[in-house]
Amino acid sequence: MLTSQKVINAINEQVGYEFTAELQYYAIAAYFAAEALPQLSQHFFNQAEEEKGHALRFIKYVVDAGGRVEIPGIDAPKSKFKTPRDAIKLSLDQEVHVTKQINALVDLAKKENDHITINFLQWFLTEQLEEVSSMDNLLKIIERAGKDLLQADEYLARVGIRTMCEPPKNS
Ligand SMILES: [Fe+2]
Ligand SMILES: [Fe+2]
Repeated sequence: MLTSQKVINAINEQVGYEFTAELQYYAIAAYFAAEALPQLSQHFFNQAEEEKGHALRFIKYVVDAGGRVEIPGIDAPKSKFKTPRDAIKLSLDQEVHVTKQINALVDLAKKENDHITINFLQWFLTEQLEEVSSMDNLLKIIERAGKDLLQADEYLARVGIRTMCEPPKNS
């Protein structure tokens, strides 16, 4: 095995966190669909698929590293929200929490002198920066729209979630 059992166990736990995030985003996507906010709903369906992709990346890594995949049990996601803002705030908190979990995985891999895992986790660090940033933008958009949620939904269709252009490639 290319890594320690400790690291494999921690990654198996992370698989559970990623599937938890997937289910939470499906629940939020369904909530927005029921609220007749199609762009918000679509955004969260897409996010759910991304979380599934994250879980599968971790599963593949355990297999590639010669470990045993053990998928933990998943708690039920939250399905009821007082306001759309609450659903998005929960998503932002979840992304911040997952970032801490990935940081903790890097810390563990460093402690174990496990450079292959440290290298593997770099993709997730970059991904978390993007996910926290875009969820933070979405929270700002929804807060600015106030009660006019149709405007927020329409804005998402027209502009999307990014608030800044990409820097020039050759700088
Ligand atoms: Fe994730
Ligand atoms: Fe995420």
